[in-house]
Amino acid sequence: LAPTIDSRAVLAWYDRHARDLPWRVAPADRARGARPDPYRVWLSEIMLQQTTIAAVRKYFAAFTTLWPTVRDLAAAPLDDVLVQWAGLGYYARARNLHACARAVVERFDGVFPTSAAQLRDLPGIGDYTSAAIAAICHDEQVAVVDGNVDRVLARFRALEKAVREEKPLIRAAVQAAVPARAGDFAQAMMDLGATICAPRRANCLLCPLEPDCLGARSGHPLAYPVPPAK
Ligand code: ADE
Repeated sequence: LAPTIDSRAVLAWYDRHARDLPWRVAPADRARGARPDPYRVWLSEIMLQQTTIAAVRKYFAAFTTLWPTVRDLAAAPLDDVLVQWAGLGYYARARNLHACARAVVERFDGVFPTSAAQLRDLPGIGDYTSAAIAAICHDEQVAVVDGNVDRVLARFRALEKAVREEKPLIRAAVQAAVPARAGDFAQAMMDLGATICAPRRANCLLCPLEPDCLGARSGHPLAYPVPPAK
């Protein structure tokens, strides 16, 4: 029988090992009721597409210093945004970023919509990004699946087909596990993929999913995900 993701174990791991990232809310502030700022979460998610966290940090700091709110970013000339983006690559992202900021101001009076469905209609926001923002900022019970989560699931279930053929199964397995703390769960799964269940190294002894993991049980977790058939 296929194992299910133990979201309680995942959250317990996250409570101890969450990465300290500038768009996250520290546990002490969270305990006082603070929530992540959708503008900062959105900005980080757009920057993190095809770019590492190490590279993004500096840009994130520059953008949020120059433009602390979505209104500030929307009011900036596009050329200023492109100058600040220089080095991050994929300039369509920066153009969409600016168009999205303007759309949030014009269509939503400067307040990001809260549901994944509404976020999905904004420029540059696709299935992944809309789910990520809605889960992280509002605990919407949606599956947030990026490349890291694909790899975690491919190993956890020892999937014998390439990830691109297993997308529906992966999404369903993650969706079935989403707990009330949907945002923490989403970020925990991404952190697990980035730091424990990494592309070339699986630190199974440190992994909260290890007791049920078919990849770990196989003795060769790095065999997953299997490469796409040529
Ligand atoms: N990669 C992209 N978005 C992320 C997030 N919110 N947490 C961890 N890794 C990520």
